[in-house]
Amino acid sequence: MSTPVAESILAAPAKINLHLRILGLREDGYHELRTLFYPVAELYDTLRIEPGHDEHMYMRCPENPDLESTSNLIYKAWKAFGEATGFRPGLFVTLTKRIPMGGGLGGGSSDGAAMLRWLNEQAGDRALPHDELVALAAGQGADVPFFLLDGPAMASGIGEELTPATVDLSGMTLVIACPAIHVDTPWAFRAWDRANGSPKASESLTTLVMGTKNPSPVSPPVVTNDFEPIVFAEHPTLREIKEKLLKDGAACAAMSGSGASLFGLFRDRGSAVAAARTLEQDGHRVFRMDCP
Ligand code: C5P
Repeated sequence: MSTPVAESILAAPAKINLHLRILGLREDGYHELRTLFYPVAELYDTLRIEPGHDEHMYMRCPENPDLESTSNLIYKAWKAFGEATGFRPGLFVTLTKRIPMGGGLGGGSSDGAAMLRWLNEQAGDRALPHDELVALAAGQGADVPFFLLDGPAMASGIGEELTPATVDLSGMTLVIACPAIHVDTPWAFRAWDRANGSPKASESLTTLVMGTKNPSPVSPPVVTNDFEPIVFAEHPTLREIKEKLLKDGAACAAMSGSGASLFGLFRDRGSAVAAARTLEQDGHRVFRMDCP
């Protein structure tokens, strides 16, 4: 008998990395990062969850059936949560995908985190304490734990050690351009290694770059992304989009994650609207949001 669950609709928001520094290669093969995650609430996927009949999860994604697979982070989250807690309700999940995929906006990670959060709310006395839920999320992907929070956060480690941050962008307009270019994250890390001589992530390097091992939240954010030289060399269009955002009035602009999305922060809303329109005319998907 499957445990009855409530029918729910979940919004899984996107993120951008306002700041992303790569500090070096760790013993476990991952890279030590310092990154400032900022949630983009107005760009989100939707998970419609309906009760199923048995201990199985069935997924539908009408606009992209390729996502209806067991490699989807929604399915992986459901499976990992069941293994960790014994709570595996039968579900039908319908995913409506709005966040562009492979764009450095964390869509897949956010979908997986939304499922984990929801399962933990439904699990009753089998619910995990927050630190165990974070550990489970980190096992799903470096960006997943961030989406268990509800606001900006500074991350260290591989991206999973999070400190909530105060980032006041009120009055600014965010423009995100998503060109039809896919950047493979493992490739981007390997290319960064080649370009930088595979430096080890040592304590001294951490201290050198950030000044302190546990940096306090960056405010105002230093908008920068260490992947840009690598990824721009491979995809010059991305550099051109960043330059266009700055020329059109963005106070700052950068790539998000390992790309290929680029964002600009505008003080003047009219300039943001005009820049967004031009980028759309160039054939890119564009999102615009007035920052809260
Ligand atoms: O954790 P996630 O699945 O998002 O990471 C994809 C790949 O990116 C990893 O398999 C690893 O090769 C690389 N990565 C890394 N260092 C990080 C995060 C990801 O090397 N901090």
